[in-house]
Amino acid sequence: MDHVAWDETMSVGVAILDDDHKKLLDMFNGLLRTGITAGNRDDLCALLGSLRAYTTVHFAREEEWMESHGFPELPAHKAAHRYFVEEVEKLHRDFEGSNTTMLRVDLILLLKEWFIEHIQHVDAQYRPYGGGTAPH
Ligand SMILES: [Fe+2]
Repeated sequence: MDHVAWDETMSVGVAILDDDHKKLLDMFNGLLRTGITAGNRDDLCALLGSLRAYTTVHFAREEEWMESHGFPELPAHKAAHRYFVEEVEKLHRDFEGSNTTMLRVDLILLLKEWFIEHIQHVDAQYRPYGGGTAPH
C-alpha cells in the first residue's frame, strides 16, 4: 500500500470532518511518497510535524462535534485518539532526535491502516448523530 485515496466508504456524513480526513490522508500519502532514506530526514521531520499538528486540530474538532451531538461513546473515542497522537509523537521524536535514519515504513503504514480503520469503523459510529445512516 503506497497511496490511499479517500472514497465514500470513508464518509462520516459531516462535510467538515470528511475534509479533515481527506487532508490527513493526503499527509500520509505525502509521507509514504517521500520514502525513508538518509537524505530526506529533514523532509520527513517536517511532514511528521505537520501531521502531528493537524491531527491535534482535527481530533479536537471531531471531539467537540461528538460532544455537541450527544454521542455517548465519547470517552472511548477520545482514548483511541490519544493512542494515535502518541504514536505520531513517537515517530516524530524518533526522526527528530536521531541521526540514524530508522526504517519505520512499517510503522507509518500501521498508522495509516489504523487511521483508515478508525474512520471506517470508529468514526462511522457517530454518523447517525449527524442525521446520517448507521454504519454498515
Ligand atoms: Fe475519530
